[in-house]
Amino acid sequence: MKESSSRMVRSPVLQLLLLAATALWVMAAQSKEPFAIRISCGSRDDVHTPPTNALWYRDFGYTGGRFANATRPSYITPPLKTLRYFPLSDGPENCYYINNIPIGHYQVRTFFALVADPNLDSEPIFDVSVEGTQIISLKSGWSSSEEQCFADALIFVQDTSASICFHSTGHGDPSILSIELLQVDDNAYNFGPSWGKGTILRTVRRWTCGTGKPAFDEDLNGTQWGGDRFWLGAKAFSSGSDQAISTENIIAETSMAPNFYAEALYQSAIVSTDTQPDLSFQMDVDPNKNYSIWLHFAEIDASITGEQERVFDILINGNIVFKNVDIVRMAGERYTALVLNTTVAVSGKTLTITLQPTQGMHAIISAFEIFEIISAEMTTSSDEVSALQTLKSSLGLPLRFGWNGDPCVPQQHPWSGVDCQFDKTKGKWVIDGLGLDNQGLKGLLPSDISKLQHLQNINLSGNSIGGTIPSSLGTIAGLEILDLSFNQLNGSIPDSLGQLKSLQILNLNENFLSGSVPANLGGRPLHRASFNFTGNAGLCGIPGLPSCGPHLSIAAKIGIAFGSLIGLLLMVVFAACWWKRRQNILRAQKIAAAREAPYAKAKARTHFARDIQMGKHHRPHEHSRNPAEAAPVLLS
Ligand SMILES: *[C@@H]1O[C@H](CO)[C@@H](O)[C@H](O)[C@H]1NC(C)=O
Ligand SMILES: *[C@@H]1O[C@H](CO)[C@@H](O)[C@H](O)[C@H]1NC(C)=O
Ligand SMILES: *[C@@H]1O[C@H](CO)[C@@H](O)[C@H](O)[C@H]1NC(C)=O
Ligand SMILES: *[C@@H]1O[C@H](CO)[C@@H](O)[C@H](O)[C@H]1NC(C)=O
Ligand SMILES: *[C@@H]1O[C@H](CO)[C@@H](O)[C@H](O)[C@H]1NC(C)=O
Ligand SMILES: *[C@@H]1O[C@H](CO)[C@@H](O)[C@H](O)[C@H]1NC(C)=O
Ligand SMILES: *[C@@H]1O[C@H](CO)[C@@H](O)[C@H](O)[C@H]1NC(C)=O
Repeated sequence: MKESSSRMVRSPVLQLLLLAATALWVMAAQSKEPFAIRISCGSRDDVHTPPTNALWYRDFGYTGGRFANATRPSYITPPLKTLRYFPLSDGPENCYYINNIPIGHYQVRTFFALVADPNLDSEPIFDVSVEGTQIISLKSGWSSSEEQCFADALIFVQDTSASICFHSTGHGDPSILSIELLQVDDNAYNFGPSWGKGTILRTVRRWTCGTGKPAFDEDLNGTQWGGDRFWLGAKAFSSGSDQAISTENIIAETSMAPNFYAEALYQSAIVSTDTQPDLSFQMDVDPNKNYSIWLHFAEIDASITGEQERVFDILINGNIVFKNVDIVRMAGERYTALVLNTTVAVSGKTLTITLQPTQGMHAIISAFEIFEIISAEMTTSSDEVSALQTLKSSLGLPLRFGWNGDPCVPQQHPWSGVDCQFDKTKGKWVIDGLGLDNQGLKGLLPSDISKLQHLQNINLSGNSIGGTIPSSLGTIAGLEILDLSFNQLNGSIPDSLGQLKSLQILNLNENFLSGSVPANLGGRPLHRASFNFTGNAGLCGIPGLPSCGPHLSIAAKIGIAFGSLIGLLLMVVFAACWWKRRQNILRAQKIAAAREAPYAKAKARTHFARDIQMGKHHRPHEHSRNPAEAAPVLLS
């Protein structure tokens, strides 16, 4: 088993989990069963739950977040005892990566719960994304609504790793009870030409009609390929006028690819009565979204014996979407499943489905499903993601930054300090700005920063970043602003920065930089860019800074040092001699002045020369008696 996925490296998921996942995959390939993995978040041990003895893997080796005992808000929630929650101090983005899974189509489901600690028992509001696309934004009150304590979506996994991320919105700590990744048919819920690998279907609501009992596919004896869907139970939409009916007859055309609907789903139904011939169901939805609606029928009413006896129109928000639906005619038989699907754009906040009889008196329905259609986000270029990961570790980015999942998507939750731009030619997001100023960063700038080739703006001002400025920065052709001021950068300014043709602002002030400012940067005003090099004691070479000495090799410097030393010694000797002579001359002058005062000035030079000779000969002891007077020359 080779861990080839690049995500693997930065994934905090427990190794054992991967082993388990791989083992399951191998087993799945052998038995043609779908890949399935269930995780019990925050659990120290693998857990089996009734009624089907489902296995939930522990995630105890997961390094992010904290674990706690869980309060389960609803009866739907699997009977697991622990959860994992993510305090904001650990960063706003937290992800599970499930690696080494088969590429394919998956149902992803996560259940939420509340931390069983009275001080933390407030309802957290957060967002969930899968493979970089936000699938749900929890609404206040979810924990007291039985069917809103989970998120569920159909999604294509196109590499061998699936990421599921939880995004804080500042209202409490995201708290996750479980994660399920259940493979379904590649063609499941194909709603027509606009459906594809970029389509995500988020389950809004599923209803099974006529039983009044909510059920998972497991409870309905559905096959594993169905993804263990959850169905809410409805006995009537309009109490008093709707009637529940059921049968034990076999229903044909069930448990078939691609959707594998359980037979039991069609063995009960809601039928309208004489009081109200229409069947109508209304629910709240998010406005301005497209919805995929799947309607299930089977003629199980013994009083209907053939075609033309029950015909009805189906309206969604008042518009007829299916005209003259005759179940027996369309399914070919009684006790045979009929599935209809349609896509509607909803601008308002409600979705109303109405079945309106046109022949016969009553409409009938067995089940229906409503999905929000979401376009999968494009992800960030993987080179840039790995460059950011290098930067994260090299700068020692604090935990509170998060920097988990994809840097740019979901677009609602980009990494803090990272600006993104969509590159249409590549179909990928790229990074065009880094704003990590005044963040107390202490590390080094990695040379890999230049892999962020689309950067236009870097501001790392006001940190404690040490080391040198990587010369690779000079390869980021579009760089306009580079602010590294107020750090502890040392070494010299790389010449390569002079290649930056778009540079407008270069702030390197208040660092420990040394050496000469590259001529092509500061030597001449480059493209009217503004520079600031002040506050670097060792920098030289442009107006406003000290001038630099000539450029010399080490050998030359040693030579010069040596030469200077000899020169200094010679100077000392010379100075000493000169000083002695001068003393003697002064004395001789005094003597001469005393002798021939009126002419002394005019004849000074000639007299001096003679007098020195005289002095030397005639006053030899005077010099030796005053050694202290010579000393300052030697010492200075
Ligand atoms: C969870 O509950 C168990 C008892 O059911 C208790 O022993 C354990 O300490 C609790 N764990 C936490 C993290 O509160
Ligand atoms: C759903 O409806 C579309 C047309 O609206 C059709 O092309 C497609 O086959 C249907 N899917 C299924 C699984 O019935
Ligand atoms: C599921 O199958 C079991 C036995 O195979 C049966 O006892 C049970 O009634 C079935 N349940 C449904 C909802 O069909
Ligand atoms: C809904 O679908 C239409 C047609 O496919 C598309 O133009 C529109 O952008 C979609 N709306 C949303 C909110 O996705
Ligand atoms: C960089 O950030 C600092 C501190 O927040 C700010 O003062 C400075 O103006 C920014 N630099 C540029 C070039 O915008
Ligand atoms: C430059 O900074 C780095 C890291 O802060 C340090 O290890 C290195 O000794 C410094 N070099 C000089 C010449 O000061
Ligand atoms: C350069 O930065 C120093 C602070 O380090 C500031 O006082 C000075 O005004 C700046 N010069 C320019 C031209 O912006």
